[in-house]
Amino acid sequence: MPVTDEEASRGQTMISRLVVAEPELVERLSARLEVVEKRLFQCVNEAYDPFVAETVGHLIAAGGKRMRPLLALVAAEFGETPGRDGVEAAVVSELIHVASLYHDDVMDNAYVRHGVASANAKWDNTVAVRAGNWLLSRAARLVAALGADAVRLQAHASDRLVEGQMRELLGPGDDEDRLAHYFRVISDKSASLLSLALRIGAMDGGAAPETMETLAAYGEHLGVAFQISDDLLDISSSSERLGKEQGKDLAVGVASLPILLALADTRPQARELRALLSSGPLADAEDRRRALALLNASPAMAEARAMMDEHLARAASLVADLPDRPATKVLLAFCTFVASRTE
Ligand code: FPP
Ligand code: MG
Repeated sequence: MPVTDEEASRGQTMISRLVVAEPELVERLSARLEVVEKRLFQCVNEAYDPFVAETVGHLIAAGGKRMRPLLALVAAEFGETPGRDGVEAAVVSELIHVASLYHDDVMDNAYVRHGVASANAKWDNTVAVRAGNWLLSRAARLVAALGADAVRLQAHASDRLVEGQMRELLGPGDDEDRLAHYFRVISDKSASLLSLALRIGAMDGGAAPETMETLAAYGEHLGVAFQISDDLLDISSSSERLGKEQGKDLAVGVASLPILLALADTRPQARELRALLSSGPLADAEDRRRALALLNASPAMAEARAMMDEHLARAASLVADLPDRPATKVLLAFCTFVASRTE
């Protein structure tokens, strides 16, 4: 059974729900995740002021699946350096991820995140942006301890995150293919960070360069698939299960994959949905409800799921190129997890 975002908000991390028949490995990763959790709160508690600590700790305490930290820890399993466990890489990845959520919620004017009030809703945009900045700079401080290569990789991933958001906001150019634009956006805004987590986790563990490259490539495909699953859930799941508002992409006018595919559906029976989706952000709740109902019944959902499955298959095929270690099973379980989120 997939872990829902609602469950994740209650602190059930993914590791307990991934089906991996390797009890020793699962135990080791769970123990390391606990260390990561402690390190995250240690960072928060180092804030010079209690209000800063409260604001930067707000979304860390709210939960989340801790997917990126787990990927970093799993990648470190492919290393050759005894005693290196990927914990620092895991902490860095989660700090960057949470920082990006603070900023994303401001940009989306979101009220709920991980089942609690978003920072911008609980306080205001200024507080939320500052909290995101604080977490980002704390991540930069920690990544410096991993060495110059890790700093360079983190800088590149941050570039991609920010450019991905900008590209999404600006939309495709006049001559640009809309699907190509979409995939560029999600690869930059989502996959870049999963890939970074794996790459610096592997680096932290002392993995061979070709292993690091394969893990990074796996992360790119898993990340694209994960973002497509998020797009699908935004349409098919309830706000309660998501721990954030359903239909947000429609409300803010983000052209997610199912929306793009529905817009390209020229059949007469798709006309009403096309008209709704072409009218820009759907501010009216009734319009959104109608668009959600039509989208859920449209073939665009299955088409988007097929594209997600293609990326999962490519991620899984890369696992075969990795050294034969028990951790490969966790990487495959991640693929199954992403597929099962939208079932
Ligand atoms: C959630 O996407 C947001 C992201 C994947 C990335 C956000 C990136 C930035 C705001 C750039 C700034 C980056 C840093 C590091 C401060 P979504 O809106 O599709 O998903 P959601 O439904 O979870 O909000
Ligand atoms: Mg968002």
